[in-house]
Order: sequence, then C-alpha cells, then structure tokens
Amino acid sequence: MHKKVAIFISGGGSNMVKLVDSMTGDHPARPVVVLANSADAGGLKHAADRGVATEVVDHRPFNGDRAAFEAALQATIAPYEADILCLAGFMRVLTADFVTPWAGRMLNIHPSLLPKYKGLHTHQRALDAGDTHAGCTVHEVTAALDDGPILGQVRVPILPSDTADDLAARVLVQEHILYPAVLRHFAAGQRTPLEFSE
Ligand code: GRF
Repeated sequence: MHKKVAIFISGGGSNMVKLVDSMTGDHPARPVVVLANSADAGGLKHAADRGVATEVVDHRPFNGDRAAFEAALQATIAPYEADILCLAGFMRVLTADFVTPWAGRMLNIHPSLLPKYKGLHTHQRALDAGDTHAGCTVHEVTAALDDGPILGQVRVPILPSDTADDLAARVLVQEHILYPAVLRHFAAGQRTPLEFSE
C-alpha cells in the first residue's frame, strides 16, 4: 500500500516536479494532489501534465483571515486522504491550528543550513555573514517557522565570486536531489537525518 503525498506550492514548483517524478517504481509513496495558493503558480501545469490532481486555494480573498484560509486548505485536501504533506516553495506561513494535526507527517524544504537563516533572503544573509558554506534543509514542520526536526541537509561551498542568485541556483540543484531522497526515506518510516555535500 503506497503512502499518499500532497504537495503545496506557490510558484514554479521545481522541487514539486522532482518529488512527483521520484515517486515511481518501488518508491513507497505516490503523489495524490498538488495545491497552490494562486492559480498563477506555474507548477500547477507541471503537475497536471504528470497526471496529478491540482487544487487552488487563493489566500487573497481571505483578507488575512488565516484561520479561514487554513480551514479551506484542510477541506480541499481532505478528500485525497494524504498520509504525508510536503511544502515545496509554499510561501504562506501556516499556524499551529493547521500544522498540529499534521505533526510528524509534514515536511518542508528551506534554502539554508538550518537552524541558520530561518525566513527569507537566506542566500544574501549567508553572504553578508561571510559564511564559507550555504545549503538546504528538509525538516519536519512544526508550528514555529522553519523549525522542527531536521531530516536532511546538503552543504554547498560559497565561492568568492558568488552573488545571492549564483548561490540560489547552485543550492536549488542540491534541493532537487535532497528532497526526493528524504521523502523516500521518510515514507519508508526512516527518520535518521541524511547529510550530503555538493
Ligand atoms: C526553493 O528554493 C525552496 O527551498 C524555497 O522556495 C524555492 C521554491 O522553488 N522554499 P520551486 O518552486 O520548488 O522551484
């Protein structure tokens, strides 16, 4: 019996595509739905092209009413009976009301070596700090932003000539390797963190 995976996106969905494409053959999970918080999210077409159901819950009509938005998210994905929820570039903060029922079943990818640089502009912050390495992290989602047990990380060297965009591009290549690897591991019931270097 395959685990069912829901994936939330906000944009191009390149991580989502890698997750969906990884879930074939002897993989213990299969994608059941991709949800975006905007109909403009480019990733929706990539999901549909792959035969995965898509849903949109636009946050804007909720005018900041997070509880109502989150209730709509939950109601929209409920029929898919997902076992695991992957956030993949989903740019809305989710509160404890949404996250708590998913405890231990919800993953996120973040473009930094957590616990460093929670939130936005991670690559510029790593450059500004003079760090020698950047990277990405897949972690379990808890109610605290970009927190929760770490399930995998990749370290990426920072080159002297790097701009934030250069670094983002090199880290994204590693995100595309890390997230499918962690999801496979997680769906098989394993929680030991995976550690890689570029
Ligand atoms: C990735 O860098 C991810 O780590 C961050 O948002 C970006 C999403 O890219 N949270 P994509 O939509 O998967 O292409």
